[in-house]
Amino acid sequence: MSALPRELLPDNSTVAADGRLSVGGCDLLGLAAEFGTPVFVYDEAHLRARCREAVAAFGDGVAYATKAFLCTAMARLAHEEGMVLDVATGGELHVALAAGVPADRLVLHGNNKSAAELARALEVGVGRIVVDSFDEVDRLERLAPGAAHRPQVLVRVTPGVEAHTHEYVRTGQDDSKFGFGLRSGAAGQAVERLGALASVDLVGLHAHIGSQVFVVDSFFHAVEAMAPFVNAQGLPELSIGGGLGVAYVEGESAPSITEWAGAVRAACVDAGITAQVSAEPGRAIVAAAALTLYTVGTVKDLPGIRTYVAVDGGMSDNPRPVLYGSGYETFLPRATDADRDRPVRVVGKHCESGDLLVAEARVPADLAVGDVLATPVTGAYGHSMGSNYNKVPRPPVVFVKDGDARLVVRRETDDDLLRLDL
Ligand SMILES: Cc1ncc(COP(=O)(O)O)c(C=O)c1O
Repeated sequence: MSALPRELLPDNSTVAADGRLSVGGCDLLGLAAEFGTPVFVYDEAHLRARCREAVAAFGDGVAYATKAFLCTAMARLAHEEGMVLDVATGGELHVALAAGVPADRLVLHGNNKSAAELARALEVGVGRIVVDSFDEVDRLERLAPGAAHRPQVLVRVTPGVEAHTHEYVRTGQDDSKFGFGLRSGAAGQAVERLGALASVDLVGLHAHIGSQVFVVDSFFHAVEAMAPFVNAQGLPELSIGGGLGVAYVEGESAPSITEWAGAVRAACVDAGITAQVSAEPGRAIVAAAALTLYTVGTVKDLPGIRTYVAVDGGMSDNPRPVLYGSGYETFLPRATDADRDRPVRVVGKHCESGDLLVAEARVPADLAVGDVLATPVTGAYGHSMGSNYNKVPRPPVVFVKDGDARLVVRRETDDDLLRLDL
């Protein structure tokens, strides 16, 4: 029975002779004792290395998609490492600005940007606005002429390509709430309308085909589908969005950011695209940098059926298993390399039968109540998609590096749960 594959751990992980795991020089059981559980632990050097890799691979202008994981520390880190930040709402814009990221290093996305969100973007002067609908063109036409900054805009195009990924995270197909269809002619009309607006600069095109895409061919098809349109428009910029997949479980493997960029660039060269090509990875920057630590609270054996191992978090800190049926591995950081020969289901503490974290988990046979249990590769779309369901306070976020543990988001308190009530 297999031990946890080491490649699912953050870059700077070490296992002591007694089997205990440290990340960024910090012993995980020590972190669980100091900060409590559940807790998100991020390997800061891993985050920085992925940001640098993205900048080296795509050049200046490559954006970190903050929806994957955002707090002020993460915004600052991505900015320090030379990335632009992609924000998809006024809320993400607010956090990025509060972190001190200059507005001209931000790209604003969103399929339904409100007039207030657009007005704020124009007031602070965000670097790029990716326009997603004709209603948004109308809003820009109204708001941009009196604005403090002249916006540089891209048109979001749905290239009509089906990425090989979960239906809920596919965005490139014709039937999508995002962007302007290529086949329908809507993308052409959007370019015409924005090109004719004196108060905006139309600088490029954008396409995002989906998330957790493992097959580089999907990006190749997107570039191929976009090329005639891109070349006909002759605009200087093209973003191919994010979507690079990461390995979550044993046996999965994904291209690196460098390999992805190489494949995209080669596809663009083949297609005769001369626009400056960029991208917006989210998951590939942050997912594998983190793991979540929980404490086992109950172990319920149902003879002949299964064993339920319940931890002190669940769908409120990681909704991906419930939303997408996503798989994770799990292990005990006190015995990192131990064989995991006991089949169990790891569930949370929420009042939902669907509240599971790892449906078909394997754990060491001696797992017991009180153990700290870890799920690796939880750095993306866990904290950011988390909730307060059942009034469970959100976990803290700790960045670890060179033996130092830095609390960057504190744990919510019970009083925080009341802060909005009047
Ligand atoms: C427009 C856009 N860019 C980038 C991303 C980031 O995707 P990922 O985290 O899969 O790289 C998304 C994700 O939904 C997106 O919608």
